[in-house]
Amino acid sequence: MMQARAVVCGYGAADEILKGVDLVVAKGEMVAIVGPNGAGKSTLLKSIAGMLRLKSGAILFKDAEIQDTTPRERARIGIAFVPQEANIFPTMTVRENLEIGGFIAPALVPERMQSIFARFPMLAEKSRQQARTLSGGQRQILAMAMALMVDPDLLLLDEPSAGLSPKAADALFDEIAAIHAGGTSIAMVEQNAYEALMIADCGVVLVDGRAVRSGPARDLAADRDVRRLFLGA
Ligand SMILES: Nc1ncnc2c1ncn2[C@@H]1O[C@H](COP(=O)(O)OP(=O)(O)O)[C@@H](O)[C@H]1O
Ligand SMILES: [Mg+2]
Repeated sequence: MMQARAVVCGYGAADEILKGVDLVVAKGEMVAIVGPNGAGKSTLLKSIAGMLRLKSGAILFKDAEIQDTTPRERARIGIAFVPQEANIFPTMTVRENLEIGGFIAPALVPERMQSIFARFPMLAEKSRQQARTLSGGQRQILAMAMALMVDPDLLLLDEPSAGLSPKAADALFDEIAAIHAGGTSIAMVEQNAYEALMIADCGVVLVDGRAVRSGPARDLAADRDVRRLFLGA
């Protein structure tokens, strides 16, 4: 589905934050990207979503090179990105947020909104409320639902559980697992490394702009070095 090959990119003069990262997300697969703060996890998701220009390397989606396309074009071909912050419009209603999420295909908005409301009844109940009135967990559901409005094949999630209580994070992980079970490919960055690896198929450990480990998620969760360094075990 998606392959990042030897990706080098960064910001302005610091253009080698990622120092040659490979990442594969197979069709229907969920990959957890873990690692310490500042490792480049968000940068990797931004490069896949089209927010950053690569210095070198390639990004393939459905067998085509897409590294020179715009974020909008990537959304159109099936890549949806949920950034860690500022991922909803607080003073707009839940319904308006979903309409914005569906901007790529306005004609399909009513139909997709109905299926979002069926999946997340809480959003239907609160559809006329401003998004700022939602709880932290509900906001993250809304942010994900906005991304689902484009009916993506690949969902990129940056720290979806950040700032949530353990209970709200668990509920969110259940929803993410359900989206994955429905066939959507997912690449998820998470501080909650252990929980992320528990619901993912594969994992990648990113340290200082390099993928230092990758493999089946359960193997990584059980790996002694990974546990000691990143899982606090
Ligand atoms: N907009 C930016 N401009 C310049 N440097 C940035 C920017 N965003 C992130 N960085 C730097 O890139 C590195 C990786 O950041 P990031 O991808 O956010 O790490 P992570 O998500 O793993 O915590 C850090 O050193 C950070 O300071
Ligand atoms: Mg980050």
